[in-house]
Amino acid sequence: MKVYAIYNIKGGVGKTTSTVNLAYASAAEGVRTLLWDLDPQGATSYYLCHKVGIPGGVKSLMGRKIPVTDMTRPSGYTNLDLLPADASYRYFEHYFIEANKPDGCLKKLVKPLRDRYERLLLDCPPGLSLLSENILRVTDVLLIPLIPTPLSLRSYNRLVRQLSKNKKGRMRVVPFFNMVNGNNAIHRIVAKNVCDKHPIFARQTIPHSNIIEAMGVKRSPLAIYAPDSEENRAMQALWREIVKRQE
Ligand SMILES: Nc1ncnc2c1ncn2[C@@H]1O[C@H](COP(=O)(O)OP(=O)(O)OP(=O)(O)O)[C@@H](O)[C@H]1O
Ligand SMILES: [Mg+2]
Repeated sequence: MKVYAIYNIKGGVGKTTSTVNLAYASAAEGVRTLLWDLDPQGATSYYLCHKVGIPGGVKSLMGRKIPVTDMTRPSGYTNLDLLPADASYRYFEHYFIEANKPDGCLKKLVKPLRDRYERLLLDCPPGLSLLSENILRVTDVLLIPLIPTPLSLRSYNRLVRQLSKNKKGRMRVVPFFNMVNGNNAIHRIVAKNVCDKHPIFARQTIPHSNIIEAMGVKRSPLAIYAPDSEENRAMQALWREIVKRQE
């Protein structure tokens, strides 16, 4: 099972929006995919029309009272399951800190899922924390959405410094630009310069668009409510580029 984390220190950059669409794209390839909504805000669960909450919350998850494999649910889309958010996820760190290996807890939790799914996508909350350290330890491919602005690049550089401290050589990193406003000169210049200079960045960018923002109302992936849109094509192309880079 390959683990993809959609993560950025910065909030509101499109982590959740991208995760839902990329997970759908993964499942649509016929690959068994699990999407774990790790953010106690539960936005992924909301987008997929699922209630937030797992039986017994984080206590039960960490104590393995109920196997994690029993906490997943069919998302309603073929090949895509959901492990919903729970408000108690905000206490993850309290449990992690008491463990022998505080940064290896998520890796252990994920282990039983490895036989069931080929891909796991993690929708991560923003910020640098013990949870994010756990996420980085379990991640094979780190997807970093960012808006093409100087401030966004600043927090990206901070993340890159943090990653080099962790010295996790095995992990692949694919940053990509989201909410690119073609009418905004700063967006255009930043996105073009960065993509030209740094081949690590995905060539495919995601536009700023009302169609994408409408996910909050449609509560389904773009491919369902706007299959023929340029936005959906961009999202599918981004997923193909991400997968191709791992081949
Ligand atoms: N490409 C886009 N075009 C227009 N709006 C977008 C786009 N991507 C995301 N949004 C909107 O931006 C807001 C933040 O997106 P999202 O919740 O995906 O970000 P996030 O990084 O997951 O936020 P958080 O850090 O709070 O978890 C939402 O209202 C979403 O609809
Ligand atoms: Mg989010």
